[in-house]
Amino acid sequence: MENIVIHGQKRLNGEIEVHGSKNSALPILAATALVNGVSEIHNCPRLSDVEAAIKILAHLGCRVSRTDHTVTVDASGMNGCEIPDALMREMRSSVVFLGAILGRAKEAKLSTPGGCEIGLRPIDLHLSAMEQLGAMLKEDAGKLQFTAPDGLTGARITLTFPSVGATENIIIAAATAKGRTVLTNAAREPEISDLADFLNACGARIHGAGDSTVVIDGVETLHGTSHTVIPDRIAASTYLLAGAVTQGRICVRDIIPAHLGALLPVLKEAGCDLRCSGRWICLSAPPRLHRVKMTRTMPYPGFPTDVQAPLSAMLTVADGTSVIVENIFESRYKHAGELVRFGAKISVEGRTEVIEGVPYLTGVHTTAPDLRGGFALMIAGLAAHGETVLSGVEHIDRGYEAPEAVLASLGADVKRVQDYGREKQAYEQKCEQADNDNPTESADGKHTVSTAPPEYIETDNTAHGA
Ligand code: EPZ
Repeated sequence: MENIVIHGQKRLNGEIEVHGSKNSALPILAATALVNGVSEIHNCPRLSDVEAAIKILAHLGCRVSRTDHTVTVDASGMNGCEIPDALMREMRSSVVFLGAILGRAKEAKLSTPGGCEIGLRPIDLHLSAMEQLGAMLKEDAGKLQFTAPDGLTGARITLTFPSVGATENIIIAAATAKGRTVLTNAAREPEISDLADFLNACGARIHGAGDSTVVIDGVETLHGTSHTVIPDRIAASTYLLAGAVTQGRICVRDIIPAHLGALLPVLKEAGCDLRCSGRWICLSAPPRLHRVKMTRTMPYPGFPTDVQAPLSAMLTVADGTSVIVENIFESRYKHAGELVRFGAKISVEGRTEVIEGVPYLTGVHTTAPDLRGGFALMIAGLAAHGETVLSGVEHIDRGYEAPEAVLASLGADVKRVQDYGREKQAYEQKCEQADNDNPTESADGKHTVSTAPPEYIETDNTAHGA
């Protein structure tokens, strides 16, 4: 079992780039199934969720190849219409393939994705939208079968909530439907605009993506294209928070600062100095972070729910009491209990999390509860005194490309080990051998002082710089 091992209290300094957006690459890869040709998707992140999407495309009969950060999909020979249960379970957001499969094959079979660690994740908005576009739905024991023998027909659709996934499914399904679709109360996330840019490059006619009303005029067929995925604004935000919690000075390059709009005032209120240009953000953290009075997660352009857990980790060592309200998902505080084990003072009441800043955290053995909560525990480990050993690393690998390498490039003492127990034992034997080979007497001559390198000697927990 893999672990990530962090020895905290190292200041992060330097420059990084972030990978392409997971939440943009997934709907765009789904949309390639609609294209009767070859799509080249560049800046596609190397993540387990992207691998799952590639498996689904291959299962549908598409020819998929990957070199480094480019995924090439030839969907001209697509001959399937079913997402197998195992792949639905591997990645619940596979539901975003529904619109493409239905639009291309005129039928689609999938199982209800079920909930996940952060909530029930219903898909009622997706299902009713496909029916409004003319598909017939049969549901039986968790199995969903859509048929649209005459193809889909444009409709006026209003979402009761600006669901990102439902917006994506509707835009994809409507791209080759007959006639016009007018979608109101659409999600406005940048990933929606990126998806529309890809589809329009394939010959679709989508207007207004990124606003609350999107108009899609269906076209007969879509041709292949080459598209570069936008940078991952959630990863960029996460690394800025990691820099802030370590009193660091980091720059995140090749991003779109406007996509992080709601985070910047929060970082400023926490006492960070920020400089932005067209393609980068540089952060310089104070010796001691200030509390952030109130943060509410909202649909874009509000504060993103995916940054809530990493922010709460940073605020555990800020001066004063911070409050976060999670308005998007009903149980996205699973990381809070683990942060308390680091020594944080957090109380959760319904959707409200109250964080009372503490002088310092102490490293623990912990387990990632979900993707963003897992990185929150890494941020706590970066701030903590001593050693943090994180299990459940597979959650983090869904959404962050080689996080330990990125953090180490900024000066963090972090590494991924295959078997922590064995590594620790080997390390302690090495230290013991080193002590035996050249014992050193302490000043009072009473005992041998370990010569083990500092990272495995517990630091004095009274002093705290953070
Ligand atoms: C997307 O999930 C993202 N995932 C999530 O990122 C992100 O947190 C979320 O949007 C909100 O920004 C991908 O893009 C792959 P929603 P999605 O539909 O589309 C309710 C991450 O960490 N709802 O906007 O599933 C739902 O229960 C992930 O990268 C319905 O009630 O989110 C939730 O309360 C986590 N019925 C709210 O809407 C529906 O049919 C927002 O969900 C659909 C959603």
